[in-house]
Amino acid sequence: MPRIAKYTDEDFARLRESANVVAVTLAEVAKVIAPGVPLTYLDQIGEQCIRDHHAVPACKGYMGYPAALCLSVNDVVVHGIPYPDIYLRDGDIVSVDCVAKLNGYHGDFCYTFEVGQVAEETKLLLKRTKEALYKAVEVAKEGHVFAEIGAAVERYVSQFGYSVPAEFTGHGIGVGMHEEPSIPNYSVRQFNNLSRTRIEKGMSFCIEPMVKIGKGQNGSKFRSRFDNDEWTARTPDGNPAAHFEHQLIVTDKGTEVISSYKLLGEVIGTEELY
Ligand code: MF3
Ligand code: CO
Repeated sequence: MPRIAKYTDEDFARLRESANVVAVTLAEVAKVIAPGVPLTYLDQIGEQCIRDHHAVPACKGYMGYPAALCLSVNDVVVHGIPYPDIYLRDGDIVSVDCVAKLNGYHGDFCYTFEVGQVAEETKLLLKRTKEALYKAVEVAKEGHVFAEIGAAVERYVSQFGYSVPAEFTGHGIGVGMHEEPSIPNYSVRQFNNLSRTRIEKGMSFCIEPMVKIGKGQNGSKFRSRFDNDEWTARTPDGNPAAHFEHQLIVTDKGTEVISSYKLLGEVIGTEELY
């Protein structure tokens, strides 16, 4: 039986430092997001910022992933590779997913940005995906079971006719980038020991709704199409997808969101809750 790692207050102090590296990095990347900018430039800025903080870009080399950041444009759900021929265009959305490892502990979070003037329905997708993340954070409290997180996401986004991926989930995080449990973005009906585990002090995990406009092959769930690189995951219908991720720990005082969008909110002019 796989187990969910428990972390100490000292571990949590390290995890907050790693999360801070990601917060600063996302803000640095946000500064250069504009029409005409190549994805490789965003990746360069991100990697430099991570290294300037004496951290390591944990995605680079992970199962052969070639870059520091995952940069997913429009219909790319996750794990978009910053190829040299991809330039941001007016009206695009781009999710910037960043994992930094500092002192052996991982920080991992993601934000989806607008590039120039974005269609109203796409803006709504971003707003509602972020709202879904906050609904999920609200149920990620001690005493609740992990399965409630995905149920909250699915319940919130399905009212708009949106869908969530069958294959990509949130996850435990700490010494490993991906630890138990897997945290799907949909309701898990099957009784699975880990998804039925109660959230307790010492746990550390990421919640990361990925949401596309329109229903999937399976109602509120969709299956992605993969490019030949076997990383780039696209929506099956070409509709845009958004991705927001926060990182949480459970201390004596309860659940704490250790990721923060506040720094990048100052760059893009948004009011961010966390
Ligand atoms: N933030 C992504 C995740 O939680 C990180 C993927 S890194 C990659 O899965 F190396 F797999 F691309
Ligand atoms: Co993650």
